[in-house]
Amino acid sequence: MTDKNFLRDFPILNRTMNGKPIVYLDNSATTQKPESVVRSICGYYGGCNANPHRGAYQLSIRATDIYETARARVAKFINAPSPAEIIFTKNATESLNLVAYSYGLTNVKSGDDIVITVSEHHSNLVPWQRVAQSVGANLKYIYLNADGTLNDSDIDQKISDRTKIVAVTHVSNVLGLKNDVRAIADKAHAVGAVIVVDGAQSTPHIPVDVRALDADFFAFSGHKMLSPMGIGVLYGRERLLDAMPPFLSGGDMIEYVEEQSTTYAELPQKFEAGTQNVGGAAGLTAAIDYIETVGFDRIESIERQLLDYALPRLRELPFIELYGCDQSVLDRKTGIIAFNVRDVHPHDVSTILDLEGVAIRAGHHCAQPLTKYLKQTATCRASFYFYNTTDDIDRLVDALKKVRKVLRLDP
Ligand code: ALA
Repeated sequence: MTDKNFLRDFPILNRTMNGKPIVYLDNSATTQKPESVVRSICGYYGGCNANPHRGAYQLSIRATDIYETARARVAKFINAPSPAEIIFTKNATESLNLVAYSYGLTNVKSGDDIVITVSEHHSNLVPWQRVAQSVGANLKYIYLNADGTLNDSDIDQKISDRTKIVAVTHVSNVLGLKNDVRAIADKAHAVGAVIVVDGAQSTPHIPVDVRALDADFFAFSGHKMLSPMGIGVLYGRERLLDAMPPFLSGGDMIEYVEEQSTTYAELPQKFEAGTQNVGGAAGLTAAIDYIETVGFDRIESIERQLLDYALPRLRELPFIELYGCDQSVLDRKTGIIAFNVRDVHPHDVSTILDLEGVAIRAGHHCAQPLTKYLKQTATCRASFYFYNTTDDIDRLVDALKKVRKVLRLDP
């Protein structure tokens, strides 16, 4: 079941790990790259490499063209009104830091509230802690229902006239649950706050429309959606970005520099100091091409099939505890399954699975407040992408059956 044809495009998925055919189930950490993406990066470095925006010669003009084509492609991909609202960064973390330090430090004052959820990845949490500490603001948390969804009355209670920023993940990187970002954006806007969305776990898996979400800022990473590491995106509303001070300063983000003062470039260059990752941008364009050729309908349907296949099999194992997988949440669940094996530390589970050729992530998943809220110290996480198959799930389940036996906890 599901589609093995994708494996032709991802040679790494045909290799072995510890002598066993690899089962790659750590797609929330990073996805594998199809050959078309690898070719686009090699093509750029092998045939067109030059510093963009600086040279008047043909190679540099070509590099600029590749870079700006990627920007326009990303704008269309997430339905941003203008490519000027697309800032290239290193990853979602840098995008969120940009918003925190540039928008947050300028607009949040002592006594104001910043509201986030307890299920944020550290990249949409620690920067807000630092802003709150710097300006004397309060960092308030929206907590969860028992099934892992956000508690609506807590949302209503925490977002108030004192709120200046609401920062929320589109999809939790541990529980895999989609948040109703539009409803939260409406509440944030009703009190004059801005909404910052961490789209790292949504953009690769579901269609994103920043206008429909009414997001003020939206961040994601290329490497979680088939692209190389080192290229990320921040979408920001033009009027907000225009009014914000630069985040990083240096070459290419200026208009005029005097000995004691500087005027800044227009958007998006104001936020792109230094030589940019053109090879990464070329890879991102090829990745978007690949994703659009597969289509989100198909991506969502494959991931749904994988989830529907995996959950009953995992539930059959008496020693598995699942998180965020109740029947009540399945309509908002993406292909991420957090679990624990009774009496076994997740790192041991992951090491034993590795010996079986199965790659999952174990730990706090850069979401320590959530892990603590779930009353765990760590969890295992299997995360799917469209190139996974039901055979991969069978291999995961077979490997999990061995864990307690290897540790002599079961006969
Ligand atoms: N943010 C990535 C994850 O959730 C690294 O694994």
